[in-house]
Amino acid sequence: MRSVNSVIVVASLVICLGVAATAQSPISAPQSRDAGAQALVNPATEKKIDALLAQMTLEEKVGQLNQYSSPFDVTGPAPGQGARKIAYEQIRAGLVGSMLNVNGAEATRKAQQLAVENSRLRIPLIFGHDVIHGYKTIFPIPLGEAASWDPAAVERSARVAATEASAAGIHWTFGPMVDIARDARWGRIMEGSGEDPFLGSQMAAARVRGFQGKDLAALDTIAACAKHYAAYGFAEAGRDYNTVDISENTLRNVVLPPFKAAADAGAATFMNSFNEIGGIPTTGSSHLQRDILKGEWGFKGFIVSDWGSIGEMVRHGYSADMAEAARQAMTAGSDMDMEARAYIGHLAALVKSGKVDVKLVDEAVRRVLRVKFALGLFDDPYRYSDAAREKAATLTPANLAAARDAARKSIVLLKNDGVLPLDKQVRSIAVIGPLADDKDSPLGNWRGQGAANSAVSLLEGVKAAVSPGTKVLYAEGAKLVTGPRNFGAPSVFNTTDRSGFPAAVEAARAADVVLLAIGEDAFQTGEGRSQADIGLKGPQDELFRAVIEANKKVVVVLMNGRPLTIGHVAEAVPALVETWFLGSESGHAIADVLFGDYNPSGKLPASFPRLVGQLPLYYNHKSTGRPGPEPGVTWSHYTDVSNDPLYPFGFGLSYTTFTYSEPKLSTPEIDANGQLQVTVTVTNSGQRAGAEIVQLYVRDLVGSVTRPVKELKGFQRIELAPGQARDVTFTITPADLAFYTARGRWEAEPGAFKVFVGGNSRDVKEASFTLR
Ligand code: NOJ
Repeated sequence: MRSVNSVIVVASLVICLGVAATAQSPISAPQSRDAGAQALVNPATEKKIDALLAQMTLEEKVGQLNQYSSPFDVTGPAPGQGARKIAYEQIRAGLVGSMLNVNGAEATRKAQQLAVENSRLRIPLIFGHDVIHGYKTIFPIPLGEAASWDPAAVERSARVAATEASAAGIHWTFGPMVDIARDARWGRIMEGSGEDPFLGSQMAAARVRGFQGKDLAALDTIAACAKHYAAYGFAEAGRDYNTVDISENTLRNVVLPPFKAAADAGAATFMNSFNEIGGIPTTGSSHLQRDILKGEWGFKGFIVSDWGSIGEMVRHGYSADMAEAARQAMTAGSDMDMEARAYIGHLAALVKSGKVDVKLVDEAVRRVLRVKFALGLFDDPYRYSDAAREKAATLTPANLAAARDAARKSIVLLKNDGVLPLDKQVRSIAVIGPLADDKDSPLGNWRGQGAANSAVSLLEGVKAAVSPGTKVLYAEGAKLVTGPRNFGAPSVFNTTDRSGFPAAVEAARAADVVLLAIGEDAFQTGEGRSQADIGLKGPQDELFRAVIEANKKVVVVLMNGRPLTIGHVAEAVPALVETWFLGSESGHAIADVLFGDYNPSGKLPASFPRLVGQLPLYYNHKSTGRPGPEPGVTWSHYTDVSNDPLYPFGFGLSYTTFTYSEPKLSTPEIDANGQLQVTVTVTNSGQRAGAEIVQLYVRDLVGSVTRPVKELKGFQRIELAPGQARDVTFTITPADLAFYTARGRWEAEPGAFKVFVGGNSRDVKEASFTLR
């Protein structure tokens, strides 16, 4: 849907209308070919690649498809030091094409020297790293950034990350993570943009644009990688790495759109995933990799496996041994092997024995070399490893200012009985809770090279914001974690120590207002951090009750990487603020909102359940044959909890209020070449200036396959002064109504539609139209 007066250009799947439709036939809307990655292909480069391929031995070709992690920063099961030694020898021999986790201008320069000064053909290495929400300057976790509904801000954050990472010798980030997640038990929900394919597509494209800029060869851009292809977020029961079994319908209509958006935005690479779908590990899936991505979408970059995922096909029970796994992955279109050592160990022999056609290897190498050429690595393999630039470009005041802006845009006000915003002149304020002075958790789990304990804590932010006369009291109250806290460590989150309670209660009693910072430790979410219980862990519930008994004026500041079941907290407190993990400038950004320097406008990118048993929970569900509510019990519901979420997708309050008129349609009917304008008048009916995210949803009432009860199709961010009203117009074309139909095509089906407009997915005004 295109917006008329907004800053956001809302394009859905970049679908071009094809054949004109007859009266009742579907309106064909083929998905466009990947426009962006076409830029990787140009005749001059292809010729250079031909020349290189002609000189390469089979072993050197396989080497280009081989990626190892450096020992410095391990983000997966680590092989022993012996393997490292071999790795360095192999780089010299031209048997390694890429390294991940080599960081810093110095280290990348040294590793590059091994390849370029020793190997026969001097082909440079490409260095990859998980730059997910910042490199040194850390931005909000992606789920938090998605709550800004601000693609421009998200693009800027990826741009800053690319500027810092590229100066430290990184050529390639393993981001954006574009997995749709409907289950908050899944620890990696924090890494994506939530539950919606449309919002997810906007965020995916914005991040790709931010990382890659306009030109991959520019010094401050890095190649993006859309991951995890595909459906990794649909792991059964939210358990990481678990089995996925979804239909082609869900795959095409829900899972793939953000990947398609990333491809269209020009993502140079894709990463496959650990999961299987319907019995086929994605790493071995020709359907996903060859048919859809490289075939239908015309993707010209390369696909890297996830860490060891080629080897894991053996444990999936899909490959008899590593050699077979290598054969299956290569045949299915996985181009580069991250840390499984399956290609380097077996691919040459497989080619020699005729089990793998060398043409497949050549094609994979061509794709890898294309990206290396596009990055300018053949012109100067050291161009990114620039110690002076690294120093100058990193953690600059401008980068930190961008991080603060992104952070405050990501905050979602969930409840406010009028206690917020706080007065900076307040006599005394108690900042309480295990996360109140935590300088580490706000960095999130995938914190790039962000230094431990380097975030501005809430306590620091509050102290910097209040008047000199304000007394700021602090009590930790309880701890969240015992034992080690890092990427690989199995930390313990169920602490029982209540010895900090008395001091917390005393501080609460002595203060005019309490800020209670509770939620999750950063390492409670992320890879391998799924949870069966998404409530407040440890003694946090008890702490909360003790504090609110001492002082009713409690503002709960949530820090967390997933929706939590916090209904009891929401009910008891006058104000509740969702702050996710906001990155380096966390405390300042939260204070900006709490004290009214910034009027919050964030909206939830994922539904908050009432109970964990409601999961998976998402607004764009199907109707079922018994949607209810009906008298009696024979309709689709729970007998112990409502079907509704605690907070719906798209929800978020402001310090002002917005009212919506009934939507007006420019026409009640459109045809294949037509378009329809939906206009709604939004009024700031409160006392403060504020920004609202105006959301547009549609429902296709009857389809050749059933359609969701609502689907986001557009949004616009508008700023209104108190009393000001503005008409917001969305344009709907048949292309926006297209989906993957029973005929296995992207097309819009004629019939009746509803359209909804509102400030969240629940509270909407509706109208109807027909597609002829
Ligand atoms: C495994 C993760 O699934 C993936 O997202 C990440 O990019 C790689 N490890 C490399 O760290």
